[in-house]
Amino acid sequence: NTTIPTFQEAMGKYFLVGAAVNTSLTDGQDPAGEEVVKKQFNQVVAENCMKGEENHPEVNRFDFTDGDKLADWAEKNGKTLIGHCLVWHSQPPKWMFTDDKGNLVSREVLIGRMYNHIMNVVTHYKGRVKGWDVVNEAFEDDGSYRKSLYYKIIGPEFIELAFRFAHEADPNVELYYNDYSTSKPAKREAICKLVRDLKAKGLRIDAVGMQSHNGFDYPDYAEYEKSIEAFAGEGVKVMLTELDMNMLPNPEGFGGAEISQKFELQKKYNPYVKGLNKKAQKLFNQRYLDLFKIVERHKDVISRVTFWGVNDGHSWLNGWPIPGRTNYPLLIDRNNEVKPVVKEIVNLFK
Ligand code: G3I
Repeated sequence: NTTIPTFQEAMGKYFLVGAAVNTSLTDGQDPAGEEVVKKQFNQVVAENCMKGEENHPEVNRFDFTDGDKLADWAEKNGKTLIGHCLVWHSQPPKWMFTDDKGNLVSREVLIGRMYNHIMNVVTHYKGRVKGWDVVNEAFEDDGSYRKSLYYKIIGPEFIELAFRFAHEADPNVELYYNDYSTSKPAKREAICKLVRDLKAKGLRIDAVGMQSHNGFDYPDYAEYEKSIEAFAGEGVKVMLTELDMNMLPNPEGFGGAEISQKFELQKKYNPYVKGLNKKAQKLFNQRYLDLFKIVERHKDVISRVTFWGVNDGHSWLNGWPIPGRTNYPLLIDRNNEVKPVVKEIVNLFK
């Protein structure tokens, strides 16, 4: 492995390449994982600790403890820090939508709370964070608005308000829209329209984040590539923000997301096996390689590629949607070794 260039050596000249990290990185629990991050990546993002639920526990109380540790770590180690995320229907501050009696708050109150949250968080990390996922997952796969409480109470303007507030808090910070299933044509169109609308109103948006929680039979890479081109065509950068490759099948009909599709290939090749069988391994390699070929072709418009986790042991996919599974979705294994396909991937970026 010593002869293989690291991700940052190979790709760093074209775009940021990083990983989502949790508190085990900054509290010394996982020195080997920490070394991998130092060596392989030039960028980090908090997997959880900069979400509203964690950093804004009460209306008038913020808790930046873990986020600050990460910002300190990133500065000490020369890594670019990305903020995730300001407005998301999942993991919002617990009190965000209701009053003392448990009733939903009015539009004005929610806008005020959103302003207070964004203003404080963005101001706190001013100069330390390169960019923020301002709004996460506002659309359904069919391109309609997700009927989140932000949407129901404020209306679709919650998105532009969030971008406006973030820019007011820090005019120098980059602002991103982030979502999954961005290869779906209807969702792609909705995001393109959002970018156009924000720009038409004179608002800042720097990039669209394609989460890229991928698997064996999704997304359709031809559609995925079309989305990269479509977003770039709207005059923004494109980022792969939460890259991983689910190796396990999920329950039939699970959830409403792309990830709930029938995983015929995984069922065939990797039916809850212990470890990896050869066919699954081959497909995994091919899918990652094909994806990075697309990334290489579009490296002029791609500004960042971030894996959702440092190594397989750390991935959220070990616990979702069925707790206690063993998954292998990343390019670095549980022993912190890069997987064999990495050699071919980094060679694409010579
Ligand atoms: O920290 C608490 C712990 O104190 C508690 O005992 C335990 C019991 O449930 O929960 C712990 O919090 C968990 C947290 O991860 C930290 O491990 C939450 O329950 C759990 O819901 C949370 O999951 C995160 C998930 O977002 C939340 O929706 C995953 O780690 C994280 O990988 C995942 O990341 C999201 C992105 O933010 C947005 N895009 C999709 C992506 C995958 O779902």
